[in-house]
Amino acid sequence: MKSLVVYSSQTGNTKKLADAVFETLTGEKEIHLIKDAPAPDEFDLVAVGFWTMAGKPDPKSSEYLEKIGEKSLFLFATHGAAKESDHAKNAMNHAKNLAPKAKIVGMYNCQGEVNPAVLEKVRAKPEPPVWLTDAPDAVTHPDKSDIDKLKRLVSASGLE
Ligand SMILES: Cc1cc2nc3c(=O)[nH]c(=O)nc-3n(C[C@H](O)[C@H](O)[C@H](O)COP(=O)(O)O)c2cc1C
Repeated sequence: MKSLVVYSSQTGNTKKLADAVFETLTGEKEIHLIKDAPAPDEFDLVAVGFWTMAGKPDPKSSEYLEKIGEKSLFLFATHGAAKESDHAKNAMNHAKNLAPKAKIVGMYNCQGEVNPAVLEKVRAKPEPPVWLTDAPDAVTHPDKSDIDKLKRLVSASGLE
């Protein structure tokens, strides 16, 4: 099986997850930042990692997801929102809907520390977004436990 890990990451949170997925996969594999990613065509499994922006996958990831077609797809995401929040779940659903023909083999949500400068700007908005209240808890994430859990999920999904 040939696997491709593709991710977008501005401040490194999603990269940590991408590295963990890549490390856990066995067989032929490649990992790329989304801007340098090859087309998904020649791979059996594609794992796409995005950071959440305005309640959706970041724009580069969204664009890539639209190219996935009928592949097996593992999705992973980071966000300031709590991982069990509707906000985080909706963003993941949004990602799934961008690749409607894909066979979803696993999904993983994880909080990711929000850049303090961004937080400050968001706090100053007249109507701060719902995820802002969860953001202080994101500060230490992804942590070792998040990474271990992701690795276990990849293993359990039979993707190795
Ligand atoms: C411009 C911008 C918009 C964001 N919008 C959201 C959002 O809508 N919901 C959310 O939960 N987190 C949001 N975040 C937080 C990031 O998704 C989160 O910190 C993520 O872990 C960053 O990943 P990275 O380190 O891989 O870039 C936003 C961050 C930025 C910079």
